Amino acid sequence: MKKKILAIETSCDETALAIVEAEGGLKSPRFKVLKSVVASQIKIHRPFGGVVPNLAKREHIKNLPILWKKMSEIKSEKLKVESLDLITVTVGPGLEPALWTGINFAKEIKSQISNLKNVPLAGANHLEGHLYSFLLPISGHRMSLETSAVQKLFPAIALIVSGGHTILLKLDSFSKWKKLGETRDDAVGEAFDKVARILTLPYPGGPEIEKLSMAGNPTAINFPRPMMNQKNYDFSFSGLKTAVFYYVRENGSLISADFTQNNAEKFPRESTSGQRKSTFTANIAASFQKAAIDVLKSKTSRAARAVNAKSIILCGGVAANKALRKALAEESKKLGVKFFVPDFKYNLDNAAMIAAAGYFAHLRGKRYRLEAQGNLSV
Ligand code: KG4
Ligand code: ZN
Repeated sequence: MKKKILAIETSCDETALAIVEAEGGLKSPRFKVLKSVVASQIKIHRPFGGVVPNLAKREHIKNLPILWKKMSEIKSEKLKVESLDLITVTVGPGLEPALWTGINFAKEIKSQISNLKNVPLAGANHLEGHLYSFLLPISGHRMSLETSAVQKLFPAIALIVSGGHTILLKLDSFSKWKKLGETRDDAVGEAFDKVARILTLPYPGGPEIEKLSMAGNPTAINFPRPMMNQKNYDFSFSGLKTAVFYYVRENGSLISADFTQNNAEKFPRESTSGQRKSTFTANIAASFQKAAIDVLKSKTSRAARAVNAKSIILCGGVAANKALRKALAEESKKLGVKFFVPDFKYNLDNAAMIAAAGYFAHLRGKRYRLEAQGNLSV
């Protein structure tokens, strides 16, 4: 039976709502995104070089009613909130003050709108949202993957790469997985953001590094590939970031005077996007990106071979990186396994993926406490 799900996401710096129609069981899930809206706070946090939790909270509180009004004003029958079957909200991982805004908002609309009083409200795991996001319909398609394609996925290796996480999972099904490894220090998205800061590029650094890399030579500088040849599935990106820091210090004068590695957030500064970026910085960006991708590709490939995977799934904000998508697509082809990656609309934080996570949690009978769980994992 079809279920119409309202999802709310406020774990970091995007406020997002979505209404998604879901159907099918754990072996044949299908999704249709009826509406997905995102209010990004990037401009608010940019002068600080990173997300400021209390500012994020303030912006979520401001944006949630605006997005809600936008949703409720849509006249289409299908989107009428009166006919919802489930409300789901991200409870973690993320910034706790930010997570609470979404949880409180969900409780508030449920108690204030009489038609929602009997609709169940369930917590959702943000990382599961990323994990399932490849199942959302790709641009130009109304529905998600065919059931027949979904059934040939497992065992699968999933690489979750975001601003807060770098995780390798082995999936036996949509409800059973095992964590093979994760980062021991910085997440890969965090490394992109910190390297961008070293190069005086604006926040968030991932897209900036990607853009700058296109003008650079990825083999110009041989940055370290931390833990690449170790036989575990853990990652470490802090040393790579530090290698970039020292390279810049020794070879150029790019580092802004206020930059220190560990307390970057404390030093507000303006965006420098207009600044001319030389071949020097482009080569650093390209070489750093290549080193990070080499590690991600190598570990994912080894995991896929070790478990005889039928598919590789790439997800999370860093999955927006075209060079990473290409590297893993090529590697999958070489291994003879299928490669799945979300549509560009659903790489970065959004609520459609949270609706998918809520639907799967419902199918799996998994209940998350309705309170902020900053360190929730998968
Ligand atoms: O999943 P996400 O939106 O938020 C978290 O759950 O953390 O991921 C945000 C992260 C940021 O670190 C951002 O710099 C990175 O994803 N990112 C990218 C790209 N776009 C976003 N990293 C590399 N290349 C990109 N194109
Ligand atoms: Zn995320």
